[in-house]
Amino acid sequence: MQVIILENPEQVAQHASKWVVELISKKAKPVLGLATGSTPISLYKNLVRSHQEDQIDFSHVTSFNLDEYHNIDAENEQSYCAFMKDNLFDKINIDQRNTHLPTCNKHENPRTQGLAFEEKIQHAGGIDLQILGIGANGHIGFNEPSSSLSSRTRLKTLTKQTLQDNSRLFKADEYQPTMAMTMGISTILDAEYVLLMATGDNKAKAVNEMISGPLSAKCPASALQLHEHAIVVLDKAAASELTNQDYFIWANAEHQKINNTYGFFL
Ligand code: GLP
Repeated sequence: MQVIILENPEQVAQHASKWVVELISKKAKPVLGLATGSTPISLYKNLVRSHQEDQIDFSHVTSFNLDEYHNIDAENEQSYCAFMKDNLFDKINIDQRNTHLPTCNKHENPRTQGLAFEEKIQHAGGIDLQILGIGANGHIGFNEPSSSLSSRTRLKTLTKQTLQDNSRLFKADEYQPTMAMTMGISTILDAEYVLLMATGDNKAKAVNEMISGPLSAKCPASALQLHEHAIVVLDKAAASELTNQDYFIWANAEHQKINNTYGFFL
């Protein structure tokens, strides 16, 4: 695991955006895995800026989102589909026919939908770079604690803590879905590279468990310990519970020299 500790959330976003820009500039048919939540919003702002000011081209990019609420219309402003359009897709030149979310409506079978989503990822050649956030309870996507470490895209019931954490995004009289389709932990581990962004001290405990804790379904993000190319980009607050911060800062400075010469990707 490559752990990168930066000063503040803006630096985390800028760093993550460099990975994305390098990937889409280098690859003929890049496949991006995308995330929702508050954390990646600043990454998407950086990508929009790169498109507008540096003419970064997204026309050849295919994307797959981690998750989507169950039985929600794409037009509903609370849907992750609407989130992605507002924050990214409508502001760059991606072909929206090549953007995919694991949707499942009322009369659709979640198992069939999950399988179809997995097949689409395979058909696209797999995900090159999966962007992730982390829940305060250690979830990635909507893989809540106790999720099978070998899970694939499926319907999950959200925990009370996640519902509480996300309730800030819903108006008092607005329906908050309690179930969501999410890529499984195995689906996420299949990505060539994963880049997890975490900011703020409310993530510090989960971040520490992910990096230094045992590999356990109790902290689904700890499954990233099994990934060959997992990059974790943190601000100081999110890194605050890590005991070996000095090592990570030193190791990252060493890595930086390699990256400056050869780029981020192998
Ligand atoms: C949400 C999403 C996750 C996200 C997490 C943290 O529920 N399903 O993909 O990483 O919670 O969100 P935030 O960045 O808003 O803290």
